[in-house]
Amino acid sequence: MTALRQPGWRLKLLISSLLIGTASVPPGAVSGPLPEASELTQRLRARQHELGLRPLQGLPPPPPEWVRLGQSLFFDPILSGNKDVACATCHHPVLASTDGLRLSIGSGGSGLGAGRRLGSGRQFTARHSPDLFERARQEWRVFFWDGRLQKNKDERWQARSVQGVEIPLPAGGQFPADLPGAAIQSWLPPLARVEMRGQVHHTPAGLLNDRAWDGSENELASLADQDLMGLWRGLQRRVLAIPAYASAYRLAAEKQLSLSGVEKEASETSAFMRVTGQALSAFMQVAFAADDTAWDQFLSGADEALTPAQKRGALLFYGRAGCGHCHSGSLFSDQQFHNIGVMPYAAALLPGSQQDLGRFLLTRRLADRYAFRTPPLRNVALTGPYFHNGSVQNLREAIDWHRRPVKHLREFRWTAVPWPLRSITHPERVRTDRIVQTLDKKLAGSTALSEREIADLVAFMHALTDERAKELEKWLPASVPSGLPVPRP
Ligand code: HEC
Ligand code: HEC
Repeated sequence: MTALRQPGWRLKLLISSLLIGTASVPPGAVSGPLPEASELTQRLRARQHELGLRPLQGLPPPPPEWVRLGQSLFFDPILSGNKDVACATCHHPVLASTDGLRLSIGSGGSGLGAGRRLGSGRQFTARHSPDLFERARQEWRVFFWDGRLQKNKDERWQARSVQGVEIPLPAGGQFPADLPGAAIQSWLPPLARVEMRGQVHHTPAGLLNDRAWDGSENELASLADQDLMGLWRGLQRRVLAIPAYASAYRLAAEKQLSLSGVEKEASETSAFMRVTGQALSAFMQVAFAADDTAWDQFLSGADEALTPAQKRGALLFYGRAGCGHCHSGSLFSDQQFHNIGVMPYAAALLPGSQQDLGRFLLTRRLADRYAFRTPPLRNVALTGPYFHNGSVQNLREAIDWHRRPVKHLREFRWTAVPWPLRSITHPERVRTDRIVQTLDKKLAGSTALSEREIADLVAFMHALTDERAKELEKWLPASVPSGLPVPRP
């Protein structure tokens, strides 16, 4: 018996064509040994063409000199004030380019992944460490959960602190188009005190810098909060004093077509920043590529690349559930800000704000309260916990949260927040009525999903996994030029 002869098929076809807008398929047109599967495939192909969905195209490989230098820098704690934290500490290849924690632990912390511990007198980062898959693409114009690095309409990059204070960028934020946003982004973590820079302490004897991991004084701690160029002048001094880096920078700078002759020497701090950014971004591009998923294979014509559940999930995602309104395009993000009602459980991490109000803290527009940038979804099955504060531990719950945020807010299990993070939670500050006031209307499609449909959506999320992401350990270098310990599990 084919699926089309089962009772209810007419209704099913009618509903699906009404909801996803495909032309109703005449019964006779569906045949073959797997009618159920081929019907799904046909519907999904129709949807693909209607929406113009395309596989993600691979990027041209960057110069190997950049990748090699970027790899060293990514794992080298030399970029942190106290020489104890590298990019990899919070974006580790064996943890799918995140740290597996709800909120990250930067300067002063020890250990890696679930075993990482907060240093005494230190604080968590205000937000969850996102994965870095496919972030080196030129398409990205908005970085961070709140978009505090963004490319404005005039094509200038603008960087701000979490409180919205402008961070002056070299060249007034105007860079040649070949400089990807990820390069500019990578200038910022070393400036952030909690992440990489470390602290100054007010003592009766005056200001006292942190001591670095190796006992030396952290000369970067006492610079002013937004002094990006000052910080990078200090890093340049540190890094180029190491002969292996000096020659690697010279090699990398020679590949920098858009730099002027003087800048190619990498003696100017802004040129040093450019080479550093290009190198880190080149490394991220190559190591954290995620353009070969089952979904891309399906879009390229391989009907069997997806399971039936994944096909049903994809039809929902781009149909009735409305996920594709926000998680749009080949990167699965519209790069816009939406409030989906995530629980602002960690309080007092942002100076001057009792709760994380997200995009609002930058724009002060009421509609932006609790809004965060739509996260991309490639490899999402590997990158939990989820949301801007890591408040949700698995995919099913993350998707279900979109369906019924009010219920989840009410039933939030405060006791499930582990110590010492629990000590900074404040249930009494949470105003559910305020949170739901600005819930995004595009969530309407999620509200009517059944359990079965949520399971199909989870299956579709697994179709966004690039198998290479499970073998990233190979990027761990044996050592880095500074000789400092490489973060490893
Ligand atoms: C202490 C942990 C920590 C360290 C160290 C760290 N990051 Fe991050 N990274 C984060 C967190 C947390 C965010 C999100 C912050 C936010 O959105 O408010 C982030 C965001 C990013 C983003 C933006 C991703 C996006 O989709 O917007 C990129 C790219 C990135 N980091 C790269 C790097 C690089 C390169 C380094 C090293 C120079 C680095 N990070 C060091 C924790 C860290
Ligand atoms: C209104 C826009 C919008 C719609 C519609 C939407 N999402 Fe989201 N999604 C978001 C935003 C914004 C976040 C991050 C929220 C936060 O962290 O506060 C998110 C987070 C997620 C996450 C967690 C990703 C991560 O890295 O933390 C998953 C998974 C997800 N969405 C899947 C879906 C699915 C499946 C659907 C359809 C049922 C959907 N989304 C519909 C905006 C949307």
